[in-house]
Amino acid sequence: MIQKSKFKVFITREIPNAAIKLLKDKGYNVRVYSKDSPIPVKELYKNIKDADAVISLLNEKFDVAVFDKMEKCKIIANYAVGYNNIDIEYAKKKNIIITNTPDVLTDSTADLAMALVLACARKIIEAEKYVHAGKFKGWKPKLFLGIEIKDKMFGILGGGRIGTAVAIRAKAFGAKIIYLSRRKNQYLEDSTGAKKVSLDTLLKTSDFISIHLPLTDKTYHLLNKEKLSLMKKTSVLINTARGEIVDEKILIRILKQKKICCAGFDVFENEPNINPELLELGNVVALPHIGSATVEARTNMALLAAENIISVLSGKGAITPVL
Ligand code: DGY
Repeated sequence: MIQKSKFKVFITREIPNAAIKLLKDKGYNVRVYSKDSPIPVKELYKNIKDADAVISLLNEKFDVAVFDKMEKCKIIANYAVGYNNIDIEYAKKKNIIITNTPDVLTDSTADLAMALVLACARKIIEAEKYVHAGKFKGWKPKLFLGIEIKDKMFGILGGGRIGTAVAIRAKAFGAKIIYLSRRKNQYLEDSTGAKKVSLDTLLKTSDFISIHLPLTDKTYHLLNKEKLSLMKKTSVLINTARGEIVDEKILIRILKQKKICCAGFDVFENEPNINPELLELGNVVALPHIGSATVEARTNMALLAAENIISVLSGKGAITPVL
């Protein structure tokens, strides 16, 4: 009897088990790089060579050199909504399908953006450290005075799924919403009363600015010196998208000079390396890229990646292709 060859799936880091089980239940041969550190290039090359499908992470570059090591790969399921780590044009040439994980991480990421908004607006990190340091000696009229979100102008950079979810949350806090987007988002406008504006108007008028754009050639350093200098002295900048959208060096200068109030980051320009000057600033809240880090989101991201692979390998096409 001729043995049907099993599809080989390589996963570049441990992801929630439900997805691995789903793939194994299909009879696939699943290999996982199980060390809790980035996969060394040699190891990656060895494992992708004969893989029919790969689940990749956002911090692994899939460029020409990597693609050329793959002999029969049909799909790379990126375990993230962002896919700026993958050379999409070359993938197209190689006929390799790329998928991402939209929707399933929207609420978790939007929640974290609001957590950063609140942390900045109410000086939560500073206040918490103060209590832990034993400095709280009683209520004071001017202790850690912050700002309210109600009636403030809340600018959303990027009117996609996550931007919309953040806008809905900010609206619930009583903010007025404006947004920047290539296309009008009727749902966003209907559910929050948001107005679509230009980048300059958004930067000049917002009290809070939250970034929800993909990283592309067009958005790289979109917030450069000229644009950052348009922001109000009292404004708060939040980035849970990609660090490279902001010129971090210029932002550090602006924060040092108190030309804006403060900033909350979940992402950094040279991740995981963080400019030490940034961490010295008192008006910065910094988190280690945990926007989608909830059990629910990460499980559903893993399942969606696995379902994309199953669908492609069984000839039905991708569920969430990026192209
Ligand atoms: C993404 O999905 O692109 C986030 O940055 C990580 O969840």
